[in-house]
Amino acid sequence: MPRKLFIKTYGCQMNVYDSERMAEAMGAAGYEQTATAEEADMILLNTCHIREKAAEKVYSELGRFKGLKAANPDLKIGVAGCVAQAEGEEIIRRQPLVDLVVGPQSYHRLPAMEAKVRDGGRAVDTDFPEEDKFAHLPARPLPDRAPTAFLTVQEGCDKFCAFCVVPYTRGAEVSRPVARILAEAEDLVTRGVREITLLGQNVNAYHGEGEVGPWGLARLIRRLAKIDGLARIRFTTSHPNDMEDDLIAAHGDCPKLMPYLHLPVQSGSDRILKRMNRKHTAEQYLRLIERIRVARPDLLLSGDFIVGFPEETEADFQATLDLVEAVGYGQAYSFKYSARPGTPAAERATVDPDVADDRLQRLQALLKRQQIAAQEAMVGRNVTVLLEKPGRLPGQMIGKSDYLHAVHVTTDQPRGTLLPVRIAASSANSLAGETMTGL
Ligand code: 5AD
Ligand code: SF4
Repeated sequence: MPRKLFIKTYGCQMNVYDSERMAEAMGAAGYEQTATAEEADMILLNTCHIREKAAEKVYSELGRFKGLKAANPDLKIGVAGCVAQAEGEEIIRRQPLVDLVVGPQSYHRLPAMEAKVRDGGRAVDTDFPEEDKFAHLPARPLPDRAPTAFLTVQEGCDKFCAFCVVPYTRGAEVSRPVARILAEAEDLVTRGVREITLLGQNVNAYHGEGEVGPWGLARLIRRLAKIDGLARIRFTTSHPNDMEDDLIAAHGDCPKLMPYLHLPVQSGSDRILKRMNRKHTAEQYLRLIERIRVARPDLLLSGDFIVGFPEETEADFQATLDLVEAVGYGQAYSFKYSARPGTPAAERATVDPDVADDRLQRLQALLKRQQIAAQEAMVGRNVTVLLEKPGRLPGQMIGKSDYLHAVHVTTDQPRGTLLPVRIAASSANSLAGETMTGL
């Protein structure tokens, strides 16, 4: 009987990708995934450190496994991800239920750590090893899965925005070599994947070893676009200062690169941008957006915003609203600032939480209006939808348009089909598509 592994994933797409890879590594060590913690022989929490009180939430989640461990003394509990990296040994000290703590750079060592804890030991590994963790993980089996996949191409970040833990939890920026990425992408396509999203904390800083010297992200995308059967390429998340000319150009001349870009700016106030250590002004960001839109006029923009950053005044916040008005986002994420221990901004005086809440609501109302406007602008247009899974109604399929809008459509075509549709209507969070006659 294979042992059962339950993984709970928090946070970003990179954690989703990492969880898949951990499941595969543990598969090679005799584990099969289960969707219920109750029947697991091992529970892994793949944690995220980006939100407020992240570590505290992990400790309370772990406390809930007490009963399970009492019922099954052989149950092993592990903590992975960015809280594991940030807390390290402290987790084992504070929560005796935990057997294993593994940082994001050490997942390839998981099977060896598992063997150690099976023998009754405890294992902690939060190193930043030299080797590429993915090269040491087994190939990805993809039984009956969606036609879309994530592919991590770089990890870590050297930007040190004053609010952000990523440079500490994921470490310095490291790019995977081109050849490994190509091999993984080709393998995914052989298994039916039609759309690949290249992942990295700061993905457009990619500079992986190519044939002769390092390649930038644009060159990697252009090379990936030559893979037959791969229809769509996306990437996330980017820093404005790493949007190089060639990458902007690729948005115009590489048809497989989708017209959607997540380009966080965080604030529209130069004073706050400086305090955030973003190393660009609002004006530079707006100019950049203009240049990208020259290359690809129909590009749908997405972003991240933080309100209530230390010392943010009403005028600073107004500058953020102005920037949002000027850009016109198709979709965006906005957060209330919260201090992350160890980051420079954590030392600074905070904005009154009620004021921050009020600003968040105002920003979200504006972003929501823009999102609805962008969706409504799609009505009447012809788009291509990559069918991903059956919808709620019989005969219905759901997929994503080029612009990453969720579209449902009645069709007998299977998942993985790139279906041309006409957008008939826009609702809260999705679009309704109609197949076109004669196709
Ligand atoms: N407080 C609020 N939001 C944050 N983010 C990162 N750190 C913090 C923080 N300390 C947001 C940023 C980033 C996104 C992933 O999370 O907007 O782009
Ligand atoms: Fe964090 Fe992104 Fe800034 Fe890097 S660029 S420090 S990941 S917010």
